[in-house]
This record gives sequence, structure tokens and C-alpha cells, in this order.
Amino acid sequence: MAQEIWWASTSFWRKSAIWVTGFSFVVLIFLTFDTVKQITAGSPRVPAYSVINNRIDYVFDAKRNFQVPVIGPEEPLFGKKLTEEEAEALVSHGKLTTQAKNCMDCHTLLGNGAYYAPDLTKAWLDPSWGSKEVREQSMVEFLMDPSDKLHNSIGRRMPKLGITEEEAKATVAFLKWMSSIDTNGFPANFKPIDQADAPAPATAEPAAEVGAAPVQ
Ligand code: HEC
Repeated sequence: MAQEIWWASTSFWRKSAIWVTGFSFVVLIFLTFDTVKQITAGSPRVPAYSVINNRIDYVFDAKRNFQVPVIGPEEPLFGKKLTEEEAEALVSHGKLTTQAKNCMDCHTLLGNGAYYAPDLTKAWLDPSWGSKEVREQSMVEFLMDPSDKLHNSIGRRMPKLGITEEEAKATVAFLKWMSSIDTNGFPANFKPIDQADAPAPATAEPAAEVGAAPVQ
């Protein structure tokens, strides 16, 4: 029998398999740590929870070709500056509320969830909440009882979910924090508001021309 060619030998393929598996394992470990670093609050893309003490501004980044978040001047949520621990506790409470009330049954958060209702990633910056003086209060009122308010023109209404004032405030903190995350321009149609010159407070009147279904 002729001598076996090196690349056809069993031992060559066995060694290759061991090296490829070993190398992939190292790459996966590295990627896991890198991902955890990127998604942890307090990293460049995901600001620390105390960002809710500041205005969330957006500027157009010509190089990346989309709007990117910038942490603006101090503008504490509900007029009360929180420590990092207090902010974390509040945002976590809000996140737990969104899970307990299954907001993702209808909404998407950072693109995950259902497509019945608007994506909430940048809901904090929706101009419909009104000026910065009334924004957080309008959101709390909407969350506690959205059924008689047609917030935008999609013609669907959000049901009353039995959210307490405390839960609503925490949810607003969660939404404000989420709006500060650098999401690579997601959602694509997002337009920032000029916060220095925000529009007048939104009215609670339903838009007559929408023809929304009656409230259940
Ligand atoms: C049964 C479906 C449903 C569930 C569950 C639901 N929503 Fe909604 N939500 C809607 C609909 C529909 C709208 C649009 C209503 C409108 O424009 O008046 C809406 C609108 C909103 C808005 C305004 C969006 C914007 O861009 O300004 C916010 C904020 C919001 N919901 C938050 C929540 C949160 C937080 C939860 C969970 C606690 C939740 N929703 C659960 C259906 C739902």
C-alpha cells in the first residue's frame, strides 16, 4: 500500500478538529465577556441608571448616519435627583412592572415583543407628552388610565392595566433610561424632539378623525 498523504491521514483531521474546537471555544468566551460589557448599565452604549437625572438629547452623527443619544444637562425625573442606587431600584421596579403587566404582548421594547402597539424604546421622547414640565406627569396619567386617551393616530387604544401610581412612575423611569441607550439608530424612523423648545402640552381629547374602536 502506498504511503498515506499527510492531509488524508486520520491523525491530521483529529488534531484539526481539536484545534478548531479549542479556538472556537476561546472566541466564544471572549465574545460572551464582550457582550456582557456592552449591555451592562454604565457602559458607553448603555448609560448608568442615574442618567434619569439628566435630559436625554439626541444629535445627528454624520459618520454613523443616524441620531445618537447624548446625556444633556441635569433634569431630574419628577424633580428629584436620585443616587445611582435609588435610580437603579426605580428603573428595576419599572422593568418588573413592564414584565408583570406584559407590555410586550402589544409593544416592542428594543425591538422585542409584539407589533400591535408602538415600539417603546424611545417613547419617552414622543412629542405628544408635551413640554418637559408636564411630560412625566402626562406619562404617569396615561399609564394609569390610557383608556380614555387617544395618544397618537394609530387608531388603537391601550387598555387600563391596573397600574398604580408608584408602578407608573417607575415605568416612566424605565422608559426614560431606555431612551438613553445607543441602539445604533433603532427605531429607524425615530425623530428627536427639540427639547429646548418642546411643544405645548398634549390635550387628552381623542382625535375625532381617527375612528378608533370603542373602548372595551
Ligand atoms: C393590549 C395591548 C397593550 C398592552 C398590554 C400595553 N399597551 Fe401600551 N399601548 C397600546 C396601544 C394600542 C397604544 C397606542 C394608543 C394610543 O395611541 O392612544 C399604546 C400606547 C402606549 C404608549 C404611548 C407610546 C408613545 O409612543 O407615545 C406607552 C408609553 C405605552 N403604551 C406603554 C405601555 C406599557 C408601559 C405597558 C405595560 C405596562 C403597555 N403599554 C401595555 C396597547 C397596549
